Amino acid sequence: MDEFLKLGLVGHPVGHSKSPLIHNYWIKKYDLAGEYKAIDVRPDNLESVLDGLMEEGYKGFNVTIPHKETALTLCDSVDDIAQAVGAVNTICIENGQLNGINTDVFGFLENIRGNRPQFGFSTAPAVVLGAGGAARAVVQGLLQEDVPEIRLLNRTRGKAEILARACKDRSKIHVLDWEDRHRALKGAGLLVNTTALGMEGHSQLDIDLAALPEDATLNDIVYAPPDTGLLKQAQSRGNAVVGGIGMLLHQARPAFQSWTGVMPEIDQELMDIVMQ
Ligand code: ATR
Repeated sequence: MDEFLKLGLVGHPVGHSKSPLIHNYWIKKYDLAGEYKAIDVRPDNLESVLDGLMEEGYKGFNVTIPHKETALTLCDSVDDIAQAVGAVNTICIENGQLNGINTDVFGFLENIRGNRPQFGFSTAPAVVLGAGGAARAVVQGLLQEDVPEIRLLNRTRGKAEILARACKDRSKIHVLDWEDRHRALKGAGLLVNTTALGMEGHSQLDIDLAALPEDATLNDIVYAPPDTGLLKQAQSRGNAVVGGIGMLLHQARPAFQSWTGVMPEIDQELMDIVMQ
């Protein structure tokens, strides 16, 4: 590819993002000419900033908080997964058209598959904690993999109800009270934390894992720190655990592919770079 690839992340704030590290690593690794920049875009400015960046010849963007839902409305085309999630996290520009996709579902599923190749999504209920943007992608991923039941719990129950109502397969989703999170684990095959709890600067998730079957898998999508209290708690009672860094890395792969045609691989050097 001869063209200099202009790529970026639009969000607010964007300073903490690992995406520039990931995409610039792959640009170099695959011997492409280009640069991926983090661009701080205030909530009201998305449309005008995107117009300006297109004028400058940008090929694509990642979209993060708080723009993922607005991006869906600004795109000329949106794939089925982004439509189902209700959010676009990747835009690819072709012939002046904005094509939106959502790679978070892929990131969530590949992270589990990569770490637990033998895990069967369709064999037991899954418990999902949280009802923000990440939870929407996780719930869509689980429905796509034909999970028999999703128990959805959020501190603000109404948000979980809105999420469930927006899903095609809503009969599989059971919204429960946040206070019932300990009991909700009975018979589950997977527990996913999508809340901010356990993240640097936040308190730990307070949950009693006694009812979680020993053969269940726990996935914490928090990746900073990589070893959350929840992961350690589950590991110490013998559950298989999957951290969040893999979701971050895997969601970046189809984004990079949409802009460059190259499906990049995750190697140890990249893992070391993002864990720093
Ligand atoms: P994201 O898009 O990354 O999922 P978000 O939309 O800010 O981020 O969602 C954060 C999630 O963490 C929400 O489910 C939030 O619960 P509320 O909907 O009740 O706000 C959850 N969360 C944040 N702080 C929490 C806390 N102290 N206790 C329980 N849940 C919390």
